[in-house]
Amino acid sequence: MIEIRNMDATDEYFVGTGTHTDESDEIDSCARRRLVWLRGMHEKGLRVKVAILDDERAGFLYAIPIEFCPWGPLGHDSLVIPCLYVLNNGHGVGKALITAAEEEARRQSRKAVVTIGYRHDFWFMPASFFETNGFSECEQPGQYRSHTRDRAVLLWKVCDEHAEVPVGLRSNYKFRPIAGKVVIDLFWSTFCQTSDIEAQRVREVAAEFGDSVALTEYCADDRAILSCHQISRGIFINGREIGWGYEAPKDGVREAIVQALRGWECDSKSCSSPTSLCPECAPTSASGSWTHFRV
Ligand SMILES: CC(C)(COP(=O)(O)OP(=O)(O)OC[C@H]1O[C@@H](n2cnc3c(N)ncnc32)[C@H](O)[C@@H]1OP(=O)(O)O)[C@@H](O)C(=O)NCCC(=O)NCCS
Repeated sequence: MIEIRNMDATDEYFVGTGTHTDESDEIDSCARRRLVWLRGMHEKGLRVKVAILDDERAGFLYAIPIEFCPWGPLGHDSLVIPCLYVLNNGHGVGKALITAAEEEARRQSRKAVVTIGYRHDFWFMPASFFETNGFSECEQPGQYRSHTRDRAVLLWKVCDEHAEVPVGLRSNYKFRPIAGKVVIDLFWSTFCQTSDIEAQRVREVAAEFGDSVALTEYCADDRAILSCHQISRGIFINGREIGWGYEAPKDGVREAIVQALRGWECDSKSCSSPTSLCPECAPTSASGSWTHFRV
């Protein structure tokens, strides 16, 4: 027996921690920040649907009006599912959550339900799941920006034939060097637990380097910032992106900064930037993290 309800006070810790209850102070601190944001967005139409299966919380889904969704895409009059998560698969919970989002869309007179799925062999937000449940591809975003951006597709289920096709984020990143400093451009949002945790880590590591590092933050909670840069999550160090998919480990960020302080040197004969930054030819770091999710 599956019940779907709007998040209530008893569900907040489960949702705020992304089901990672009682795991760490870091996750709990993040949960507190996220819950403030989630509560604040309620009046703008955000709903968190919580699934109860046999009296136990079994998953949840965010439904956010497209005009306010920090994860993208951009558009009007749709309801976005940026993320849903089911603990025990195969009991119809995912389907029930999606159905609840569709009902929410109609309640709010939204014209479509939109999500971002992935055509990869990884568990993260599989496009196939949404297609099985009535979604279809509405755009091939190409350079769609996300931390798991390979083969991302925009999917939707239309409630009104006049629904506007949403537009995937297109990175508009421009590196602006600052003489004598390692520049960190940090794109993050409170909504995404992984992003929020990693942002906190980047701040702490950057602070260890004092004036040698210039950290600029771009928070996608602010619609103007998201629309301008069209990056919901990312860490750029001297213009190069580092990323792990999961929360950036402090050691990895530290190592990347140390490398940037030393300056990358390129030994490729064809390289036109033989010293300092070379976007194409810079060597991979010891952790190999540069190459994980390159723009
Ligand atoms: C994808 C997911 C939501 C499926 O949930 P679930 O409760 O197991 O799905 P359901 O039991 O409701 O399945 C409903 C239908 O979808 C199908 N389905 C489930 N997973 C599927 C998949 N990966 N691909 C294609 N179809 C899928 C089922 O076979 C079922 O089909 P049917 O109605 O024809 O019988 C779940 O596996 C999940 O949470 N994955 C991780 C999602 C994620 O990345 N979250 C982001 C975290 S930040």
